Amino acid sequence: MSGVLKKIEKNPYQYNGEFTLLNSKNASNNLLEKKLYIESYGCAMNFSDSEIVASVLSKNGYRTTNIVEDAELILLNTCSIREKAEQTIRKKLEKFNSLKKSNKHLKIGILGCMAERLKSKLIEEEKIVDLVVGPDAYKDLPNLIYKVEKGQKAINVLLSKDETYSDISPHRLNSNGVNAFISITRGCDNMCTFCVVPFTRGRERSRDPQSIIKEIKDLEIKGYKEVTLLGQNVDSYLWFGGGLKKDFSKASEIQKTTALNFSKLLELCAINHPKIRIRFSTSNPQDMSMDVINIMAKYDNICNHIHLPVQSGSNKILKAMNRQHSKEEYIDLIKRIKQIIPNCSISQDIIVGFPGESEEDHKETLDLMETIKYSFGYMFKYSERPGTLAQRKLADDVDEATKKRRLEEIIELQQKHSLHRTKEFLNQEVEVLIEKTSKKSQLYWSGRNDENTVVVFPKENYNIGDFVNIKITDCTSATLLGNAIGYSKNN
Ligand code: SAH
Ligand code: F3S
Repeated sequence: MSGVLKKIEKNPYQYNGEFTLLNSKNASNNLLEKKLYIESYGCAMNFSDSEIVASVLSKNGYRTTNIVEDAELILLNTCSIREKAEQTIRKKLEKFNSLKKSNKHLKIGILGCMAERLKSKLIEEEKIVDLVVGPDAYKDLPNLIYKVEKGQKAINVLLSKDETYSDISPHRLNSNGVNAFISITRGCDNMCTFCVVPFTRGRERSRDPQSIIKEIKDLEIKGYKEVTLLGQNVDSYLWFGGGLKKDFSKASEIQKTTALNFSKLLELCAINHPKIRIRFSTSNPQDMSMDVINIMAKYDNICNHIHLPVQSGSNKILKAMNRQHSKEEYIDLIKRIKQIIPNCSISQDIIVGFPGESEEDHKETLDLMETIKYSFGYMFKYSERPGTLAQRKLADDVDEATKKRRLEEIIELQQKHSLHRTKEFLNQEVEVLIEKTSKKSQLYWSGRNDENTVVVFPKENYNIGDFVNIKITDCTSATLLGNAIGYSKNN
């Protein structure tokens, strides 16, 4: 205890030399007693960011708790991608009202995309909120919390040109000790017209590959078996010494010739960590290169699955969305992927009811799905987001009932295709990394195969983190069922 305290006294706010520091021993002492409850919403990047936040705050004596009633600080790491995501947070805040009444020391903070989008409005509209922090400002949390503890409201929503949190070792939350997310890029430069992400997460920048390798190494030492490299658009990863991707053209000749792209990063990870399974998400069709596919094919430990959102099967709509590829180019890309990795599974994101989407456009999306037969997908009704180009220039003119019906149609078709894909595994042997007890039965393990399909099988004497060969005997559209036939060679 005294050792920890000493460290904190010496450097109470490890990450923020430039800010006003708190140097009272008592205050540090108080911080040591504090409990943090952190809840994440939305994409994997948010869950990964919460682990950075927990790490930053652990240096300041905050310990995470899963019991919200015990917390002195509640942080909600929020999502703004659709209106519904924001409504969920507002409802959650209403629930916290009674907690705040019963614990006058309780402080509540909003992190993530909603913080960035709404800024000080959040504090004005939601009286219960003390703290608003955007995705690039988490290192400032200790200072902001200090302010909040003094009874003030605090906000930092500055977006950064170079912040990638590469110097922070994430504090894993709710971890099974087997799978971990590692962010490799932040922000997005693509400006799809429906999407709020470029506004809430800022411009795209890549993280130092050495810090990525080091993070995987640390995880491997701790016994982790699988990592997922995360970015809004992993294929546009480019390390040339830091800074915004858009400034690459201004980089020096040396920086340009030594720059590391995504395929090289993937290879570096695969070579350095042959025992670690590697996944990545999300791929953007416009930036996906055959180099990436060749690297996937070359290394056994890179999983044969690509999440390749298409959003729509209509060229007219793709253009209006500012997606930089046509339906034909997308189909051709998948054809080329399958030529190199025949069993590569492909999943999708699709939006229905984008402004101007006619019945014919919708049918083109269904036709595209029929051509690809995705393994699975995430499907959404278009939700107009303030500030996006679509909101400013296009009328949200597909009525709610039509959006709902179109969504039902694509979900139904996807289920059919998912079943088609899971059936392909019947009587096959697949390698599964055991992740957790199956939700359906305590007696069964659940894990995923290389292609990212969930596999459930009787536990026998196997353990979480084991690589096991499973003979598939049955399936639903979402799950493969089978029996273990032994440890795999990777175990
Ligand atoms: N970076 C990823 C996607 C990020 S957002 C990519 O390259 O595609 C995740 C998904 O949410 C998107 O793929 C899209 O299908 C959906 N989405 C984004 N904005 C939306 C909106 N305004 N309404 C409905 N769905 C949306
Ligand atoms: Fe959004 Fe398009 Fe980027 S969906 S996250 S703007 S690739």
